[in-house]
Amino acid sequence: MRYGRIAGWGKAVPRKVLTNFDLEQMVDTSDEWIVTRTGIRERRIASQGETTASLSVAAAQQALERAGLLPADLDLILVATSSPDYLLPPVSSMIQHWLGAKCGAFMITAGCTGFVYALATAQQFIASGAYRNILVVGAEVISPAVDWTDRNTCVLFGDGAGAVVLQASDTPTGVLSFVLGSDGSGAEHLMMPGGGVADPPTHRTIDERKHFIRMNGREVFKFATRVMGHAALEAVEKAGLTMHDVDLLIPHQANARIIELAARQLGLPMDKVFVNIDRYGNTSTASIPIALVEAIEQGRIQADSTVVMVGFGAGLTWAAAVVKMGVLDQPRFALWRAIPSRAKMRARVAISALQMRAGALLLPLYARVTRR
Ligand code: ACO
Repeated sequence: MRYGRIAGWGKAVPRKVLTNFDLEQMVDTSDEWIVTRTGIRERRIASQGETTASLSVAAAQQALERAGLLPADLDLILVATSSPDYLLPPVSSMIQHWLGAKCGAFMITAGCTGFVYALATAQQFIASGAYRNILVVGAEVISPAVDWTDRNTCVLFGDGAGAVVLQASDTPTGVLSFVLGSDGSGAEHLMMPGGGVADPPTHRTIDERKHFIRMNGREVFKFATRVMGHAALEAVEKAGLTMHDVDLLIPHQANARIIELAARQLGLPMDKVFVNIDRYGNTSTASIPIALVEAIEQGRIQADSTVVMVGFGAGLTWAAAVVKMGVLDQPRFALWRAIPSRAKMRARVAISALQMRAGALLLPLYARVTRR
């Protein structure tokens, strides 16, 4: 049996902070309502040029550096997202290109649960012996899909990206077990009804604001409290463990009350639960990897820690995974790490643009030469 150890991790969030007080100026809401009902105080919102691809690349570069790997060492890239830069091409290929990796890449969409789905998928490629180093990204620039006039949804969401490198290992670390669930009968409770194949984008869909997220908050809340505890417990039992063995629960950061209820169901004290929703809001499928990175950075996860990740989201879907951290390696490329990730990403994008321009210039020449 080969295991997939988490050998590297990274996160990237937009610079722009939108506070509850800012939202008070935009819709009929209050800081007090948002904090008591959700636990959110502020969230990050992407500015022009900050996209799912660019945040993913910044997070991925950190993860690669921590793993002591170069992009060329990657065997596969999996990107979980519901907000790709374009419908075509898949954002996973943009990320592969901007990183400078030379491997396969694909997207996984499972609502806010996507990162756990992607982690479980990556683990299968490692367990089968097919691949050694896999980049798994959870990224979301969901703010353009948020109706900033709808107080029921706009106070909840934020943008960001998290990434890990899963590396083949013989010791039992990484994803020890997982549970994946889906119940499409609840799809209508959280959806973007227009702009897809069923109702393609037209002036009408835009006038009817169908290109924005619509949510039945109460139904999603009930669903979340129904599945979170069960899924986490099932994954723990599948790993042959009990809740006493769990050092840290990393839940999807959608609502602090949902997280507290799940912890209570599992009999876990809150000091064994990681919460950062106050600073980022709900970053959808980026929320679990961002929380994982911050938990490591804050020393809440040690080399021998057993971590449970659990999420729920649009679909409706849910997923949980038990992860044994293993060695928390120190970075090997000190010089490379010293260059800020954003600078490296900009350099990579500039090089790609130059390559494309050079290609466009050379192509007619090449065609003329090969015609002869
Ligand atoms: N500010 C002030 N009042 C508000 C706001 C707001 N931002 N939003 C709603 N209200 C009002 C409502 O209109 C309602 O008023 P009414 O009683 O006069 O009708 C009142 O507050 C209570 O509304 P509820 O919906 O009962 O509030 P609730 O306590 O359920 O909280 C919330 C709403 C925060 C949306 C909650 O239901 C929730 O978190 N649900 C889960 C949402 C979720 O997790 N979504 C994402 C999951 S998947 C993913 O991550 C993409």
